Amino acid sequence: MIRLENVTRRYEVEGRSVAALDGLSLSLDRGEEVAVVGSSGSGKSTLLNLLGLLLKPDGGRYLLAGKDVASFSAAKRAALRAEFIGFVFQDFHLNPFFTAFENVELPLLIAGMKKSARRAMAEEALRRVGLWEKRDHLPRELSGGQQQRVAVARATVRHPPLILADEPTGNLDPEASRKVLSLLKEERRTGATLVMITHDLSSAASFERVITIDRGRLIGDGKGKAL
Ligand SMILES: Nc1ncnc2c1ncn2[C@@H]1O[C@H](COP(=O)(O)OP(=O)(O)O)[C@@H](O)[C@H]1O
Ligand SMILES: [Mg+2]
Repeated sequence: MIRLENVTRRYEVEGRSVAALDGLSLSLDRGEEVAVVGSSGSGKSTLLNLLGLLLKPDGGRYLLAGKDVASFSAAKRAALRAEFIGFVFQDFHLNPFFTAFENVELPLLIAGMKKSARRAMAEEALRRVGLWEKRDHLPRELSGGQQQRVAVARATVRHPPLILADEPTGNLDPEASRKVLSLLKEERRTGATLVMITHDLSSAASFERVITIDRGRLIGDGKGKAL
């Protein structure tokens, strides 16, 4: 479903060019669950943002469902992202002025769905994460774990085939972490591919596949220990 071929991505920092990704190749099949590990600054977030079409590679190819998307225009990438990809961030990125329900409904509004369909899908997603009772709360009226569950509901409300999560449990206590992890994994029942960055090696070990990044390169690709 996904192929990265010899991808590079550089940043200019104070006149110096830093290679965040340095010739990385990777294939992901439909339905896979993959943990991404590596030390801070190794290029994990850059990789995820690239997979999520938030960044373009400077070199190499990115094939998504057979399409070479690296060269797509911003508008085409945005359309593809809306249809294909759900993103979950460490610090939730919820709209602070929207209720839980409105945050989850937003991707459906952007997709141009009718009100009745939006209501039904947002309700289903909020019930799935156990927060229907909190639908009228603003993010600041929710705990960190609850906010992240709203973010998971928002990312999965359209059941996208690719779910990307950048340290989604990094700011949560162990109990909330377990809930968020199991909700993300549950989404694979719909056939979705899950790629999740984590610092927590015991979460990583629960994934079928674990890849390790170091200085912008893939240095490890194997099965999780828990299997
Ligand atoms: N927007 C940016 N501008 C400049 N340098 C960046 C930017 N984003 C990331 N980098 C650099 O790229 C490298 C990889 O960063 P990142 O992908 O965020 O790593 P990780 O997520 O593994 O901590 C680091 O050296 C980081 O400082
Ligand atoms: Mg990061």
